[in-house]
Amino acid sequence: MSPLFFLPFLLLLLLPIAVPAAQLRPGHYSETCPEAESIVRDIMKKALVKEPRSLASVMRFQFHDCFVNGCDGSMLLDDTPTMLGEKLSLSNINSLRSYEVVDEAKEALEKVCPGVVSCADIVIMAARDAVALTGGPDWEVKLGRLDSLSASQEASDNIMPSPRANASSLIDLFAKFNLSVKDLVALSGSHSIGQGRCFSIMFRLYNQSGTGRPDPAFEPKYREKLNRLCPLNVDQNVTGDLDATPLVFDNQYFKDLVSGRGFLNSDQTLYTYPQTRTYVKQFSSKQGEFFKAFVEGMIKMGDLQFDQPGEVRRNCRVVNHRPVNTLWNLGGMNPTF
Ligand code: HEM
Ligand SMILES: *[C@@H]1O[C@H](CO)[C@@H](O)[C@H](O)[C@H]1NC(C)=O
Ligand SMILES: *[C@@H]1O[C@H](CO)[C@@H](O)[C@H](O)[C@H]1NC(C)=O
Ligand SMILES: *[C@@H]1O[C@H](CO)[C@@H](O)[C@H](O)[C@H]1NC(C)=O
Ligand SMILES: *[C@@H]1O[C@H](CO)[C@@H](O)[C@H](O)[C@H]1NC(C)=O
Repeated sequence: MSPLFFLPFLLLLLLPIAVPAAQLRPGHYSETCPEAESIVRDIMKKALVKEPRSLASVMRFQFHDCFVNGCDGSMLLDDTPTMLGEKLSLSNINSLRSYEVVDEAKEALEKVCPGVVSCADIVIMAARDAVALTGGPDWEVKLGRLDSLSASQEASDNIMPSPRANASSLIDLFAKFNLSVKDLVALSGSHSIGQGRCFSIMFRLYNQSGTGRPDPAFEPKYREKLNRLCPLNVDQNVTGDLDATPLVFDNQYFKDLVSGRGFLNSDQTLYTYPQTRTYVKQFSSKQGEFFKAFVEGMIKMGDLQFDQPGEVRRNCRVVNHRPVNTLWNLGGMNPTF
């Protein structure tokens, strides 16, 4: 039979398999890769020892992944000559970091159960682990996501909020993802760990809303401290802590907002606006309420999925290749083209 006979089937195989959004469930890998969750947790423990901040950096991935075309690992894809990925988008460039921690988790998983655990699920597990390992709540995650076949810088640019955002625009943005005002405030509590750059607060320190003045919501001593960290001529990659206890996941972030010590405008605005202020006050006095709302928010955010074709990437930075030769060899055939 002529090899050409197989061509139509071959082309079918080459097409990414279009599937409806996968059913997410706890313990999705219990049969196919029972150690998946403990492998990811171990990598996160190592990251904590190596560079404590990297846990915050990895936790942030869940937000930047899930808001742009659903939780599909798209933000992990490197740019290619034909595709501008999300790594260089406005919110991500010179800002998202610690991609190598996800790479390490992927490598460890590929050794034990190759081709099984998606990068999108690694992000979800690692975000949960980052919170649990820094003193926050621990919870069961739903798994079974597939990795996207592409990424979109434009989508990221259009969706991800600016550090200048006010509470009313953040409420609107989160509502588009079916996330409530309470979810918004609780999820912002992720800024209980990690750091931000001077770049993200210069306008707030020196020219809030084009007034030539600092944001009046600053507590003066805190503003002076930030003025010293970020003088007008500073290298704007210099970083400052997002709350007073940047390595501990706790409700200090909300206490800081109540006392005018929020780092980003998007943080402090949650206390300025009446609609969000109620939750900030509540979470600042009751850590348990914060943890409960945070877990709910993370699970809801992790549920964001779009109907799109997917795969389990072998390397989180690139989509899998499907070269014709490989397929023939897999089928045990050895045609000569
Ligand atoms: C509500 C809207 C949000 C805005 C406007 C926002 C914005 C930012 C900005 C500007 C930074 C600092 C980036 C830099 O200066 O390089 C940052 C850091 C961070 N964000 Fe958000 N964020 C938001 C929500 C979230 C959510 C929902 C999460 C996760 C659930 C999250 C997790 C983090 C973490 C952990 C860091 C510190 C990262 C590190 O130390 O590397 N953020 N965010
Ligand atoms: C909040 O931000 C949005 C978008 O930048 C802007 O249109 C709106 O006027 C702001 N609201 C207030 C009350 O400042
Ligand atoms: C929000 O919920 C509505 C109604 O359940 C649903 O149709 C819509 O797809 C959801 N949007 C997102 C982004 O999940
Ligand atoms: C402050 O911002 C306004 C509006 O964006 C701009 O016109 C003005 O030049 C800025 N002032 C300084 C000192 O940067
Ligand atoms: C931060 O560093 C990067 C790379 O080192 C550089 O390209 C960028 O311009 C710097 N950003 C700022 C705001 O100074």
